[in-house]
Amino acid sequence: MKVLYEGKAKIVYEVEGEQDKCVVYFKDSATAFDATKRAHIEGKGILNNAISSILFQLLEGKGIRTHFIKKLSDREMLVWRARRYELEVVVRNITAGSLCKRLGLKEGEKLKKPLVELFYKRDELHDPLICLEHVFLLNLADKKEVKEILRMALDVNRIIRGFFKSHGLLLVDFKLEFGRLPDGSLAVIDEISPDTCRLWDAKTGEKLDKDRFRFDLGDLMEGYRKVLQKVQGG
Ligand code: TMP
Ligand code: ASP
Repeated sequence: MKVLYEGKAKIVYEVEGEQDKCVVYFKDSATAFDATKRAHIEGKGILNNAISSILFQLLEGKGIRTHFIKKLSDREMLVWRARRYELEVVVRNITAGSLCKRLGLKEGEKLKKPLVELFYKRDELHDPLICLEHVFLLNLADKKEVKEILRMALDVNRIIRGFFKSHGLLLVDFKLEFGRLPDGSLAVIDEISPDTCRLWDAKTGEKLDKDRFRFDLGDLMEGYRKVLQKVQGG
């Protein structure tokens, strides 16, 4: 299959004879801090594909469009080919990560209401935080599109936060990407996994996401396996 795009954690392949679909292959590489920290983590791609597939199906069931069509194999997902917005949309429920660093806040404080932040998806600029005026200046999306994206990001937060909570996990924050499907509808694309979410064990507070790798907090696979077991109802 022809490679359309290769990123840090995934490869996207063309599907022969099916212009409007592609196959996402989940790799075993982990990167952090603009890929200055890297590792091969055997089996990570399998867990991220499994977890993302569960979350995309959950969202589809709740009426949120995603690029997900079906899980093809351990590491492969069939998706709609989408026109991507060059934005990373972060939703936060509890203070952590760059929010604490940037604003001098203490980690672990529950926010009064979910906070949405927009980042410009440009590796060479280190994905800077941007404001709405920048979105319009750069023609990343128009007013109507941004409104739709923000509303969908908050809807996704409400749905997956409740889902994780019912499985003993706190959704601290997460990153979404959006695109337009072949039929023109707005959809959540990319992945939703412990690579792109902060997830804490609701009872013990143990960090089960990629922060384990970023800050050497423990075995990454052990954390991701716990997330998968929990979302599978175990
Ligand atoms: P941050 O606190 O580092 O800004 O991250 C917020 C959330 O976004 C966190 O759940 C991790 C996720 N994220 C990504 O998925 N990709 C990225 O490149 C970054 C910086 C964060
Ligand atoms: N994924 C980003 C990188 O590879 C950053 C991160 O998630 O911390 O640099």
